[in-house]
Amino acid sequence: MNPPSLHPCPIRLGVNVDHVATLRQARKASFPDPVEAAVVAGGAGADSITIHLREDRRHIQDHDLTRMIASCPVPLNLELALTDEMLAIASRAAPAFACLVPERRAEITTEGGLDVSANIAGIRDGVKELADAGIRVALFINADPRQLEAALATGAPHVEIHTGRYSELEGEARLAELELIGRFAADAHGAGIEVHAGHGLRVDNVAGIAAVPQIVELNIGHALVARALFVGLPTAVMEMRRAMQAARFPPQDDEA
Ligand code: PXP
Repeated sequence: MNPPSLHPCPIRLGVNVDHVATLRQARKASFPDPVEAAVVAGGAGADSITIHLREDRRHIQDHDLTRMIASCPVPLNLELALTDEMLAIASRAAPAFACLVPERRAEITTEGGLDVSANIAGIRDGVKELADAGIRVALFINADPRQLEAALATGAPHVEIHTGRYSELEGEARLAELELIGRFAADAHGAGIEVHAGHGLRVDNVAGIAAVPQIVELNIGHALVARALFVGLPTAVMEMRRAMQAARFPPQDDEA
């Protein structure tokens, strides 16, 4: 009999389809459709779909959210900034999951995590408003113990670790960042919070993060959609799932 796996907890893949809408919006056309991408990604093994309705509507539009709620074949995770407008839209749409993210208009993508410690009361209210609409909320934060302590004070059931720094580093520096992420994930899990991670993850760097046993969900967009241009979305999703699974469940000695 095989020894029990060191990492018995499955890991889920959330596919972020924002950049399908980015391509559409480059032409203000009707295609490619992020909802169609969600259907295809769901069929290829995505466990959830993520979209970010940004205040400037640079990619996902309000009608995408409405259509996604109607047609997404797997649970929807809506990323949003903590504003009255976004909280009202999210509460009305009531996706299964939401993730509160920092948002700056001039940024190219979400830079850094939410500074929860600077606004515990505001974030607690936002989490409650979304929870009252039946939405389970994650806070997108850096792997910083101070932010974890603050996140615990908001009552959010999930955190998503920002892996942007990890994904930009190499060698020893990446290993040091991974160690930090691993410690943070263990502490968050120990405190009863479900731990997700995302940003900048690719097939060639996902293994370190996917092997952290307390991380149960990865949200991945840019690299997946970019790869899909060349191999198709189903193959891109399957390649990522395979890379995650291989890291999570490495072959035991007697299987190698
Ligand atoms: N998670 C969150 C909270 C994000 O804001 C993003 C970027 O939209 C991602 C994950 C996915 O990052 P990437 O597109 O680099 O895979």
